[in-house]
Amino acid sequence: MAFDSFRDFVNALDKAGELKRISEPVATELEITEIADREMKLPGGGKALLFEKPTVNGVVSPFPVAINTLGSHKRMAMSMGAESVDEVANELGALMKAKPPTSFKEAIKLLSLALDLRHAKPKTVKSGSCKDMIHLVDSPKLRVDSWPAAPDWKNPSTINSQPSTLLNLPILKCWPLDGGRFITLPCVVTRDPDTGERNLGMYRIQIYDDKTTGMHWQLQKVAARHGRRYYEKGERMPVAIFIGGDPMFPFAATAPMPDGLDEFLLAGYLRKKSVEMIKCETNDLEVPANADFVIEGYIDPTEPLRDEGPFGDHTGYYTLPEPYPVFHVTAITHRKDAVYPATIVGIPPMEDFYIGGASVKLFLPIFKMNFPEIVDIALPAEGVFHNLVFVSIKKTYPMQAYKIMHGLWGMGQMMFTKYIVVVDAGVDVHNTSEVLFHLTANTDPQRDSIFTKGPSDVLDHATSEIASGSKMGFDATKKIPGEGFKRTWPPLIKMDEAVKAKVEKLFGGK
Ligand SMILES: Cc1cc2nc3c(=O)[nH]c(=O)nc-3n(C[C@H](O)[C@H](O)[C@H](O)COP(=O)(O)O)c2cc1C
Repeated sequence: MAFDSFRDFVNALDKAGELKRISEPVATELEITEIADREMKLPGGGKALLFEKPTVNGVVSPFPVAINTLGSHKRMAMSMGAESVDEVANELGALMKAKPPTSFKEAIKLLSLALDLRHAKPKTVKSGSCKDMIHLVDSPKLRVDSWPAAPDWKNPSTINSQPSTLLNLPILKCWPLDGGRFITLPCVVTRDPDTGERNLGMYRIQIYDDKTTGMHWQLQKVAARHGRRYYEKGERMPVAIFIGGDPMFPFAATAPMPDGLDEFLLAGYLRKKSVEMIKCETNDLEVPANADFVIEGYIDPTEPLRDEGPFGDHTGYYTLPEPYPVFHVTAITHRKDAVYPATIVGIPPMEDFYIGGASVKLFLPIFKMNFPEIVDIALPAEGVFHNLVFVSIKKTYPMQAYKIMHGLWGMGQMMFTKYIVVVDAGVDVHNTSEVLFHLTANTDPQRDSIFTKGPSDVLDHATSEIASGSKMGFDATKKIPGEGFKRTWPPLIKMDEAVKAKVEKLFGGK
């Protein structure tokens, strides 16, 4: 299902009883985080929150802040217009199975074809609501220090048309030691200067002043690769950041799509409607015509990098300042009735657990094509994405668990995984307690573990060097001949089915 704006999605959440409105003024500095963190820690992820009067330096912003909108399995499915993410994953898997690929490269090609099948290709349009208000930087209109009276957000006609600057958008300062305000759900559009291929990625944006920000694309990400080519060529790099629009945009921006595959194809496929794209005012990049906010600009390769951070990160710790490119704003455009979507990251579980979980489900068919023995994969919340991966497999030959570990460490962003635990097919990888039981019961630590080295998440503060570390894998499957186990593997305790059925009949439900 396609949403025409982020407000549309928020309204759908409201109708479904998935939204709490907060009508009192709440500060964008720390206070929204404290309220959202409590909500995100509720079982199942709590509700989405709409702060109707967020304040910036004590002044009420005309734009409400929506947060935790994707922070539950239900809301994640609603954002895709589905009953469950499994339903969407199964459909995508079936599309790809129509002609099973013989290699990973072919699987990726097939994914692209599968996405195309539903007319998911983005199309260019001439007008769009993201241009309701256009503020060119250095136009005298831009400088506004405070907003007039707060509007009634349910009545867009009361929303004033004052110009926006980065300093009066309701951008959060999330945690006490953060280096400033950060846009936490930014969709960043770049192009490969050699091939023209587009990329959409989510890289947080630190506000330095009204015209410059940080650009936190990490070393191994696609936009960083684009950036390196512009630095090598000495050419100015156009960049467009947009916020809001259809909730499938931020989801697609975080999805680990292979380099070269346009994330707007995925977004179009998931929302069952092509994404309408519109050209920016001050560069040639295109952004979704229904985005809530667009911040256009460039990176100057002759300019030195600048420290970005600290930032209270999804690792549960602050990431310390590191040098990143500086982004220069050339224009801000926005809808008249814009809603500002945000998230917070921190000690898990947080909203990003549900976003990452949906990605894993959607990409499971691709993993399975490369490794047909894989039954299921889970990234438990405690492992904050990359730290810990549980995989269940149908094992048929010796050392197969190790093949899976090496295979996963070599696949895209799975390279960041610190610990992989491989279990047998019957184990529910989404039940951490069940996995830990099999891990500890089925392993002889020295025999069943392996250490290796590889690239690590740049946010990992525990590695001795940034972006480089070690990995550990555990084979918690039942040992079979050829794996050095000379004894008899005992059966797992299980009750007779007939007895279970009898007791269920007698006492079931009591
Ligand atoms: C809420 C959230 C914030 C993120 N922030 C960043 C970030 O600041 N820098 C970064 O490199 N990746 C960040 N990521 C992860 C990337 O969005 C993710 O790795 C994505 O696949 C990158 O796209 P790419 O492969 O096209 O570069 C974030 C993910 C989420 C869910």
